[in-house]
Amino acid sequence: MATLLVGYTASDLFERGKHGKKFTASWLNEDVTCHCLDIYHRHAIEKTHHVKAICTPHLPEGPWDVIRFKTGPKRMSGELALDQLQEIHLLMRQQKPAPKFELVYDGKERDRNDLLNKIKDDPDRVRDFSATWKASVPGIDPLTFTSFPGCFCHRRQDEGGLALAEVVSKDLSSSIQHSSLNPRRLLDMGCGCGLVGLLIARAVKGVSLVGVDSHSRAIEAANLNAQALGVEAEMILSDNGTPARMDGTFDVFVGNPPYYSDYRIAEVFLDTAKRALKPGGVCYTVCKNAAGLEPVQRQYFPDVEIIKRRGYAVLKSVKPL
Ligand SMILES: C[S@@+](CC[C@H](N)C(=O)[O-])C[C@H]1O[C@@H](n2cnc3c(N)ncnc32)[C@H](O)[C@@H]1O
Repeated sequence: MATLLVGYTASDLFERGKHGKKFTASWLNEDVTCHCLDIYHRHAIEKTHHVKAICTPHLPEGPWDVIRFKTGPKRMSGELALDQLQEIHLLMRQQKPAPKFELVYDGKERDRNDLLNKIKDDPDRVRDFSATWKASVPGIDPLTFTSFPGCFCHRRQDEGGLALAEVVSKDLSSSIQHSSLNPRRLLDMGCGCGLVGLLIARAVKGVSLVGVDSHSRAIEAANLNAQALGVEAEMILSDNGTPARMDGTFDVFVGNPPYYSDYRIAEVFLDTAKRALKPGGVCYTVCKNAAGLEPVQRQYFPDVEIIKRRGYAVLKSVKPL
């Protein structure tokens, strides 16, 4: 039975045996494919279970005998759940006979039924869940960005990202006036839909941009936005930084890391910054609380300057020569 699992993480694929010992669930057979939106989840599944996992912004076509969707309010936004349910519904309509569908809902029965009814009530309606919105830094006209459900800050700009873009655009514009270094290679890690890197690339002449994100829909949006804004950029899907061939090639690093799981992901970002930057290259990160991030950043760079903007702190460090 070709089975597609949607919305599952590595920990969902365990069962507990005697004495609480964890093992791969018995219902997982060789013909199971796990679809992940974030490559981190794909890697975690491949590491802990012998099961096929793929990471793409949209669901793979199949044919499938069974599609099983695990969702709920603590797992994903309501909009992403509806978007994925719509994709499943469209996949099922393409196939004759239609695959069997199972919804595994972590939440209230009423909310589960509400979600299903949104598709059942009007099965022919295909909703567009993308959003467009504007963002700008001083010196340029507002730019239009597109985002999708699943992207960080879908439907709006993040104030932390904007603070970072403002500080770096200003810094680079003034330093480029006093330097012969041109063009500058910029790495935007955790680029999301491209907000920070694309604003800087449009505000500062001669910037060549590489974006990295672990979320497939972020990369899809970042590519779309780069193209629409006429910025030549390479956008890479990765959860462990840039490829080794890019080590020591960047002049500037920007990162607005997520701060869940303490500073573990911020450390992945800072480790990438240290590797990717040339000696003399500059690393900028942003956070709400500089007191927490500063000691972490000091483990990677000897000096940290704190620049306050929009209620956020931008932490600036130079890689020693
Ligand atoms: C706080 S958001 C910032 C997005 C965007 N730069 C902005 O400012 O709007 C953090 C981003 O980091 C991405 N991310 C999380 N872990 C990552 C990892 N290990 N490698 C690359 N990106 C990661 C998330 O998918 C998310 O898009």
